[in-house]
Amino acid sequence: MKVLVVGKGGREHALCWRLSQSQTVRGLYCASGNPGIDRLANPVALSPADIQGLLGFARDNSIDLTVVGPEEPLAAGIADEFNRHGLRIFGPTRAAAQLETSKSFAKNLMREAGVPTADFAVFDDFEAARRYLAAHRGPVVVKADGLALGKGVSVCPDPESAMRALADAMERRRFGEAGARVVIEQCLGGEELSFFALCDGENALALGMCQDHKAVFDGDRGPNTGGMGAYSPVPQFGAALEERILDEVVRPTLRAMKARGTEFRGVLFVGLMIDGEQIDVLEFNVRFGDPECQPLMMRFQGDLAEALLAAAEGRLERAAVNLSPSSAVAVVLASGGYPGDYRKGIPIAGLERIEGAEPSELKVKWALDGTRVKVFHAGTALRDGALVTDGGRVLGVTAMARTLGQALSAAYDGADLIQFEGKHMRRDIGRRALDYLARNS
Ligand SMILES: Nc1ncnc2c1ncn2[C@@H]1O[C@H](COP(=O)(O)OP(=O)(O)O)[C@@H](O)[C@H]1O
Ligand SMILES: [Mg+2]
Repeated sequence: MKVLVVGKGGREHALCWRLSQSQTVRGLYCASGNPGIDRLANPVALSPADIQGLLGFARDNSIDLTVVGPEEPLAAGIADEFNRHGLRIFGPTRAAAQLETSKSFAKNLMREAGVPTADFAVFDDFEAARRYLAAHRGPVVVKADGLALGKGVSVCPDPESAMRALADAMERRRFGEAGARVVIEQCLGGEELSFFALCDGENALALGMCQDHKAVFDGDRGPNTGGMGAYSPVPQFGAALEERILDEVVRPTLRAMKARGTEFRGVLFVGLMIDGEQIDVLEFNVRFGDPECQPLMMRFQGDLAEALLAAAEGRLERAAVNLSPSSAVAVVLASGGYPGDYRKGIPIAGLERIEGAEPSELKVKWALDGTRVKVFHAGTALRDGALVTDGGRVLGVTAMARTLGQALSAAYDGADLIQFEGKHMRRDIGRRALDYLARNS
């Protein structure tokens, strides 16, 4: 089949990398691609936002399956448009994407479906929200309803900070129209976990668990980023929890969506808080996370294109997903200054020491251990034939090995071989899991 991937970051590089190994794929295209992706997929010079352009391209080139990476085209209705023209697409319709694009939609659906989630109230009126906060004791979380680039949520330990967060969202419109409505919810404690499920409207298959690292500095300090690293599986949580999440969260959500006439096809990314036996959904996303997708694709075994097509065609019931039992981890190399201002166009050196043919001691060691190292491009560009930085998150150095410890040392060994001015990374990716393993060995 001929597959078109929509997007241009590390997530899409990981998807293209796995898709390029599918037996059934004989043409791979990516709009708009990046220097890493372009070595695996034919670049298509169309923006991921250009739905009409993408539709035309898919039609003119007899694309059999389009795989959407980011949420924006989904929110804008790319799946509706492709469906209307009889083109296969992996990703939810605009109405089903509301699980991510409207937090109040997701919370109301969870309440209706009996999915465990924090108590909440929804407000369109600032004065009513203020009165609610005034009458409420204890920490709360204030969430802008709409898409806010991961910045619309404030965890508020006291009433003063909650009042500020509310005014920021509703009065000052810091997140634009996304903050016209807010969700105020009970603040939960516990450990965060991400779970991914492949969905075809009715059936769901587990794609694995992940933990990510949003804060820019070690020890979860500093401002939030798009994600500085991720690993999978999560040794603190086992297969039994995975089954519970499928049973108590994913399946009831799919049933409720179908009952509303907005069945969900695509990847359901469930953000959870786990506190002992208690599980609660913090949020849904309707696509793969980045960098989470990188370790997940490393672990994915089998024909990805077939699995995604089965989901798009509503026939997951007869499909299966196999994940390697190995551990995979992605370490993000970021530009100096990110998530604040940063420069672009800085030369990147050393990639060939990981990916080139030249033998080295490290490569021999990786080969002997059965370790795989792969560098995914997130924000890079070619300038006069040379690789330069082109975004806040530049590269994801991803490794898979028998143990998490081995995967981490391979990823960091790889990350240290790559040089660009201002490069920074977190040094404590996977620390929580390593501590857990040390305590329980
Ligand atoms: N009810 C809650 N209790 C405690 N922390 C929360 C709660 N809801 C969200 N958070 C924290 O805020 C972060 C962002 O919230 P989330 O709902 O995932 O929104 P988004 O990813 O769209 O910014 C979560 O990863 C979690 O750390
Ligand atoms: Mg989140």
